[in-house]
Amino acid sequence: MTARYKDETVARVRDASDIVQVVSEYVQLKKVGNRFVGLCPFHSERTPSFSVSKDRQLFYCFGCHAGGNVFSFVMRIEGLTFPEAVERLAARAGLDISSDLETEEDRAARERRQRAFEANQLAMAYYCHVLNRSTSAQARAARDYLLGRGIDRAVAERFNIGLTPAGWDGLVKALSAKGISRETLVECGLALVDDGSGRIFDRFRNRVMFPIINVWGRVIGFGGRSYDGTNPKYLNSPESLVFSKRRNLYGLNLAADSIKSSGRAILVEGYIDVVSLMKAGVPNVVATLGTALTVEQARLIARYASELVLFYDGDDAGFAATAKAVEVAQSVGLAVRVAPLPGGHDPDSFARQEGPEAVKALLDDAEPFASYRIRRILQGTDLSSIESRVKAADQVAETLASVSDDVERAEYLREVCEKLGVDPQVLSAAVRRLVAAARDRQRVPSVRLKREAFRPVDSSPLASKAYFEVERWLLLLALTDAEAAARIADAVGENPLSTSPNAKLMDIVLQARSEGKHIDAASLVDAAGPELAGYVSELVGSEDAFDLDEGAVDRALDLLRRRRMQVRLAEIDAEIKQAESAGAVERIKALLKEQVELRQALGRDIALY
Ligand code: GTP
Ligand code: MN
Repeated sequence: MTARYKDETVARVRDASDIVQVVSEYVQLKKVGNRFVGLCPFHSERTPSFSVSKDRQLFYCFGCHAGGNVFSFVMRIEGLTFPEAVERLAARAGLDISSDLETEEDRAARERRQRAFEANQLAMAYYCHVLNRSTSAQARAARDYLLGRGIDRAVAERFNIGLTPAGWDGLVKALSAKGISRETLVECGLALVDDGSGRIFDRFRNRVMFPIINVWGRVIGFGGRSYDGTNPKYLNSPESLVFSKRRNLYGLNLAADSIKSSGRAILVEGYIDVVSLMKAGVPNVVATLGTALTVEQARLIARYASELVLFYDGDDAGFAATAKAVEVAQSVGLAVRVAPLPGGHDPDSFARQEGPEAVKALLDDAEPFASYRIRRILQGTDLSSIESRVKAADQVAETLASVSDDVERAEYLREVCEKLGVDPQVLSAAVRRLVAAARDRQRVPSVRLKREAFRPVDSSPLASKAYFEVERWLLLLALTDAEAAARIADAVGENPLSTSPNAKLMDIVLQARSEGKHIDAASLVDAAGPELAGYVSELVGSEDAFDLDEGAVDRALDLLRRRRMQVRLAEIDAEIKQAESAGAVERIKALLKEQVELRQALGRDIALY
C-alpha cells in the first residue's frame, strides 16, 4: 500500500515546486505573454499547444486537454501515483516528509472504495463465468437470447457481459467465499438486506449483466437486462461511493482511445446500441446510463473529443432527447452533429437490419445541429398557413442566431427563405437583432451564453444553465485574489452557487477563506481531488475568454443577481398557475406583487427573456 500525505504536507511540497521549473526539466518552454508554451509531452504535435501559467501554477494542453498542477504533471509524465509524485517533488526540493502520512479516517475511506472496486470486479468475473459455463436451462436461454440479438461468445467476452443466476444468493455466496464482506456487498449495491431476517441476498437475479467500467478500467457498476420479459427491463446498480450515473458513460473504457484520436464521439442511448455499433465497426461510441445526458458526462466527452454526434432513436422521444442533449453538449463547447435514424429504429436495430455500411453512411452524413433542426422545423410547417410560417420563421431565426459562421448562416437563410416564402431581409434582420441582443448583454464571455440568451428560463435544467457560465466566471474571479474572494464570499454566502461542479469548488474556496486562507487555482486542484482537476485547469486555461478587468467582480455579481431574479420570475409564473387552480386569492396577489417588483428591478433586460 502506498503512502498518503496530509494536505499541509502536499501544500508545502507544492509551494517548493515551481511548475515552470519542473516542467522545464522535461519540455522546452518559451515565454509568450504571461504564459510559457511548448510542445505537449502527452501527445504528438508540431505546433505548441501546451501552456503553463506561472501565476496560476497550472498547465493545460489545448490539443489533448491534459491539464492540472505540478503533481498532475509529474504523475502523468513519470507514470506515478499521487503520493509518489509528492515524494518525488519533495526529494527534488530537499524536503523531508517521511513522517507526514494520512489520517486513519482518510485511509478508511480510500480503502472502502478499493474494496467496492474489488467486489465489483469479482462480481463481473462471476457473472461471466455463469453466462459462459453454466449448463442450467436459464443459462442456455440467456445465451440463446444474446445470440438472437447478435451477441455471440466473442462479443460477450469483449464486453464482459455475464449472467446472474435465478437463485437468491449465488453471488453473495461466491463473493463471501472470496472474503468480500457483507458491508461491501451492500455498499456497492450487489446485495440487499432482508429486513426480517437481517440476511443479505443478491440484488440482481436472472438478468444479463452489462458491467460499467470507467476509463481507468475499474468496474463501477452494472446494468442488468431481463431477457425473459420480466419487468423492469433494466435494473442498474444504485449510486454508491464508486458509482455515479451522472458522471460516467457506458463503453468509455473501450472507446476512449478512438474518441481521442478521431476527435469525435458518437452518443447513443442504450447499452445494447453500444455493443451493436462497436460490433459493426464503430469504435468511438458511448451511451448514457439510462438518464438524459448530463453536463458532467458532456464534460467527460469534451476531455477526449471536440465533436459529438448524437445517434438517438428515430421517434418523437428520441427527438426530444436529442434536443435536450444538444443544449447540454453545446454548453460545454462541443460541436454537435445529429445522425437521424429512420423512424422506429434504434441504432442497434438499424445496424442489424441495414448492416455496417449503412451505419457508416448515416454517421458520415451526420449534419450540424442547426441544419438538422431547420429541416425538422420545415417538415413541421404547414406552408398554406401564415401562422404556421411565422412560427417557423421565429424558430429558424432563433436557430440561426446560434450559428457563429457567417457564411454558413447566410446559406441556411437563403434556403429557408425560399421554402417559407419569407423576405430574406426580414429574417436576417431578426437574426441580427437576436445576435446583437446577446452581444449587448454584460460582457459575459464565452459564445456558449448566446444560445440561452434567447430562451425562457422556465424549467430547472434551463435555470441551472442560466447560472452555469456566470458561476464559472465567479469561481474564476474568486481564485484571482483574496480580495475578490472576500467580496464574492459576502455576496454568495447566503445563497450558494447552484451549478455543478462550480458550487462544490466555490464551497472549498469559501471554506478556506473562513479559515483565513486564500485558495488559488493550483491548491484548488488538489483540494478538489483528481476528478475535478481537469475542470479547474480547463477553466483557468480559458480565462482569456472571461472579463477579469477592474470591476469584473461587480459585473459578475450583478449578472448573477439578475439571473436569479429571472429564474425566480419563471418560478412565479408556475406558482401563479398553481395558486389559480387552488383559488388562493391572497397568494396570487402576493405573487403578482413580487412579479411586478422583480420586473421593475430587472428593467429593460427582461426583454431578452
Ligand atoms: P434493448 O431494448 O434490449 O434494445 O435495450 P436498449 O439498451 O436499447 O434499451 P432502450 O433503448 O430501451 O433504453 C435505453 C437505455 O435506457 C438502456 O440501455 C438503459 O440504460 C435505460 N433503460 C431502459 N429501460 C430501463 C428500465 O426499465 N429501467 C432502467 N433503470 N433503465 C432503463
Ligand atoms: Mn434497443
